[in-house]
Order: sequence, then C-alpha cells, then structure tokens
Amino acid sequence: MNILLLGSGGREHAMACKIAESSHCDTLFVAPGNAGTALVSKTKNVELSPTDFASIGDFVLHHDVKMVVVGPEAPLVAGIADYFADNIRLRNVAVIGPRRQGAQLEGSKDYAKEFMMRHNIPTAAHRTFTPDTLAEGLDYLGTLEAPYVLKADGLAAGKGVLILDSLEMARAELTDMLKGGKFGEASAKVVVEQYLSGVELSVFVLTDGKHYHILPTAKDYKRIGEGDTGPNTGGMGSISPVHFADSAFMHKVETRIVQPTVRGLHQEEIPYKGFIFVGLMAVPCKDGSGSFDPYVIEYNVRMGDPETESVFPRIKSDIVDLFERVWRGNLQQTTIDIDSRAAACVMMVAGGYPGSYEKGHEINGLDDVSGSLVFHAGTRLDASGKVVTNGGRVLCVTTLDSSMPSALLKTYQQVDKISWQGSNYRHDIGQDLLKMMI
Ligand code: AMP
Ligand code: GLY
Repeated sequence: MNILLLGSGGREHAMACKIAESSHCDTLFVAPGNAGTALVSKTKNVELSPTDFASIGDFVLHHDVKMVVVGPEAPLVAGIADYFADNIRLRNVAVIGPRRQGAQLEGSKDYAKEFMMRHNIPTAAHRTFTPDTLAEGLDYLGTLEAPYVLKADGLAAGKGVLILDSLEMARAELTDMLKGGKFGEASAKVVVEQYLSGVELSVFVLTDGKHYHILPTAKDYKRIGEGDTGPNTGGMGSISPVHFADSAFMHKVETRIVQPTVRGLHQEEIPYKGFIFVGLMAVPCKDGSGSFDPYVIEYNVRMGDPETESVFPRIKSDIVDLFERVWRGNLQQTTIDIDSRAAACVMMVAGGYPGSYEKGHEINGLDDVSGSLVFHAGTRLDASGKVVTNGGRVLCVTTLDSSMPSALLKTYQQVDKISWQGSNYRHDIGQDLLKMMI
C-alpha cells in the first residue's frame, strides 16, 4: 500500500526508514520531509504542510494512499484524524494518531491532569488557575515549597513550563502568564504543580484504543549545555533502553500508568489509535531500597524526538503490520520483537541554537560514516544536490551496540567525522546513566 508520513524531523526520518523496510509498503510519501527522507528507498518527499488537511486529503485520494502516519502533535491537536473520519471518501484511510479529543492529553495540561485524577494515575499534586482565579493561584503558591512548577495549559512549542526557585518570581510569572499574555492563548489557563525530584525517562505505548504494546524506554537530553545546563532545546540526544527501568519498575509503570490510561480512554469512549508518549519522573522510594516509583510528568500523543531515533531502530517487527493492527483494533494478536542491543543517539545542532543560528551551510563527512545510522532533521538539498543545514537541530547519529558504553563510543566516533561551519553537539549524552550504573 501507499503510505503518507507527516513531518520533517529526525523522528520522521527514523520512522520513514522503518516504514519503508516493511513488505506492506509500496511507496512512502513524506510531507514535507527533509534531505534524509528523500534518500530512503521507496520514499518521496512532497511539498505539503502537515496542518493543511484539505490538501492532504486531496493528495491521499489522488495517490491511492491507504495509511497516514502523523509524526508531530500539531495536526493531531488540530483534528486531522477527525477530518478523515468525517469525510466519506477518506474515512477508510488508516490514520495513525488520535482524534482531537484524545490529542487533548497533550494539547491541554489541565485536561491531562483531570484525566489522571479520574483514573488514579500517579502525578504531581496540582491546581489549575485562570485570570479570574489569579489571587487564589498566588495564595496556592504560598502553600507550596520551592521550586515552583508553572505550566501553560496549551501547546507552547515546548517552552510553556517554568520552574522557579523563588516564590516572588513564581508569583510574578503566574501573573504574567495569566494576565500579561506571556504564552498567548496557551497560558489562558495555568497548571501549578508540586515539584518532583527524581530521574526522567520516556515510555512509549502503541495502542489501538483497547490493547497496547509498550515500546522500549528512552531518555532524552533537553538542555543545550553539558551536565544539563543552559536553555532547553528540542533534544540533544537520547539513549535506549534506560537501565534502571528494570522489570520491577516497568511492572509499576504498566499497572499504575499504562493500563489505567488505556482503560480510561476506552471507558470514556475516546477512540485512540496511535502512540502515547508518557513522560515520567522516577522518584526514589522513601524506604531506602534504591527502587523508584513512577509519576507522570506529561503525556504526548506522538513519538518523542530525539527518542524515536534511538527507539525505532530497536524495533524489529514490521511496523506497518503493527499500524494495520492498530487501525483494525487487533493489536493483541501479535507481539513486538525488540533488538536487545543498546541504542545511543547524539544530535548535532547549528552554532547558536537554541538561540538564533545560520542556515545553508554545507555538511561535510556524511559519506565517511560507517556502522551507524544518520537521521536528518533540519537539512535540505541545495540546487547543486549538496546537503546543507536548514534548521537548529540538523541531524543525529545513532548506533546500536552490545552495551550502552560501546554504543556511545561508536556514535561519538562517527559524529566526529561530520561537521559544518559552527556545528555543535553535547559530549556527555548518556554519561549520567553510566555513572548511576557503576
Ligand atoms: P513538560 O512540558 O510537562 O514535559 O515539562 C517540561 C520539563 O519540565 C519536564 O521534562 C521536566 O524536566 C520538567 N518538569 C515538568 N513538571 C515537573 C514537575 N512536576 N517536577 C519536576 N520537574 C518537572
Ligand atoms: N523529546 C521530547 C519530545 O519529543 O517532546
């Protein structure tokens, strides 16, 4: 069948490789894709915006597309799955991604918190405030201990969460979010929540709305600077698996979080066919046993980026077969085969990112890479066919190897071969976990 994948990042390049590998895939279209997706076998980039539903619908009909896989959250929150379901000519096309209501798990932090409360899913204590209840919000902050966590309710391009050390700053920011329009419409409501101290990790679930499979765990590295310093980025690297997420911990994740989430969606009659990305904080148990309890920090309704670049290469099963089962609702009739090797992914970014940066620099050394995968993010082919930079996060290198230390070592050996004017990357991806392992 012909398949359309929406998005243009490293996540979509990693997904495109896995989809194109499937015997069920004839042609894979990626809208809009990047210079990397253009090179994947069976794959063509198409100039379409992922949120232009009318053009996507026309394209699907004209190119006999039978499945649409949605990479980023914006089209899901804007209702692409509903657009297809409501259109008589498109309703039989398999859309991998939830409808608008399910996508609210990511689109509204307040909705997600209320969902977790209804289904007894462990998460930080919270309250939600609006401009009318600002005074109560300022009082509530006074009842919490530092640091203070403020979350804009809506999508704010990953920037809507503030963690503040002083009560004064927290009160000023809450006021600015609710009354000063700090994040525009996204902060018309603000969730104030208790700070959780622990280690973060990402758990991914593929569900047909009733049955589910848990995909490999991963950890991403959000800050630009080594030792987790400096401003947040879209993600500077990832590793999979996360060693402390052992079977005892994952049993807690499955019974306390994944099962009630999928059951809750089903009970509330929220059709959900796609990925659930659970951002977790593993909080050390108070009993001194060295074990952790999982708490949900956030839900996303898509795969993570750059987690996909370390998780997808470890999936050995036919991903299109799994997607077809998601669409038909018989995901329980199969298992997922996972590569037991460790995956390490290092993102290379433009100089200056996440602040202002230049585009259009020629990327050198791509042909010298061996034994690792290169996933493109912000790249394009220039008029002469050279790969040039076209974004802040430019590309990443992923290596699968028998152990995490060797996967990291081999990744960095290949990263060192690639460069462009101003290229930058973190040298310490995975090191925090390696230290924990000793
Ligand atoms: P979110 O967009 O909800 O994932 O939040 C962005 C980042 O803020 C998370 O990845 C965490 O590092 C941090 N964060 C969010 N909520 C909390 C919390 N309750 N306690 C500690 N850190 C948090
Ligand atoms: N890596 C975090 C995200 O995709 O939101």
